Amino acid sequence: MRETHVQPSQLVLPMFIAEGISEPRPIESMPGVVQHTRDTARKAYAEAAALGLGGVMLFGVPEHKDAQGSGALDPDGILNVALADARAEVGDDLPIMSDLCLDEFTDHGHCGVLDAQGRVDNDATLEIYAQMGVVQAESGAHVVGPSGMMDGQVGVVRAALDDSGHDDTVILAYAAKYSSAFYGPFREAVASSLTGDRKAYQQDPANARDAIREVLLDIEEGADIVMVKPALSYLDVIADVRATVNVPVAAYNISGEMAMVEAAAANGWIDRERTIDEIITSIRRAGADIVLTYWAAELAARLDRQS
Ligand code: PBG
Repeated sequence: MRETHVQPSQLVLPMFIAEGISEPRPIESMPGVVQHTRDTARKAYAEAAALGLGGVMLFGVPEHKDAQGSGALDPDGILNVALADARAEVGDDLPIMSDLCLDEFTDHGHCGVLDAQGRVDNDATLEIYAQMGVVQAESGAHVVGPSGMMDGQVGVVRAALDDSGHDDTVILAYAAKYSSAFYGPFREAVASSLTGDRKAYQQDPANARDAIREVLLDIEEGADIVMVKPALSYLDVIADVRATVNVPVAAYNISGEMAMVEAAAANGWIDRERTIDEIITSIRRAGADIVLTYWAAELAARLDRQS
């Protein structure tokens, strides 16, 4: 009688790969999640493929940052070499997805480059995103995930990919990305240097119609998959988007959402596994075809044992 099922192929594992470390580094605010070395990440890609996950979403943590985020365009930059490692390890057995954003690479921590007044310069950022898309596809990404919420980002990345012969590279657009307090632990995960906030380019949590507008614009620009993020406080938005569009819908159960569960479970206040199952099932029930979750591998292994 069950209406909603969760399968490993619907789950995508976000992973952090850090430059210049020799041992994996635990992320304190995200229990169980680490910054990987290139080597430990390789094991995780193979494991993700063996579990039948729907993909891995890679984030790079560079050793050096600058105002332009130049590490993002360097083929030897940490994210690009990690993509190449992943492709060499699993080939086409696992969709390899790449975060396409500058915040991990900029010393000011913003998702784009800044203008003379210190504001994020939307159009100058688009030029860099376009090049990033090509470098990431060339490094090995099957799917690129523009996550910086710049206006027009999907269109420029699609055009750059098509012009460089990467017309079959998929775009997973972070279409409705809210300016959320739940990103807190992620900022530790990528050693973010952000001061201030992202309210000028991320969405107001009070707005749902606005999300539909963003999603439709992204589809018009060529998005293959649209994502809502965060997931839990936005289940209504996921449901609205699912009812409106005819492309796959993804949702990202983000760092702060997992951290709350881990903290409560560590205190013995909730049953950890039941809570995780309920949360991921709810996101699926709301309408997400794909769920990005830090519990993807754990959950897939558990589903495997149950079947
Ligand atoms: C931007 C990006 C962020 C996350 C994914 N991509 C951070 C932000 O917008 O501040 C957050 C993921 C999470 O919190 O788990 N590159």
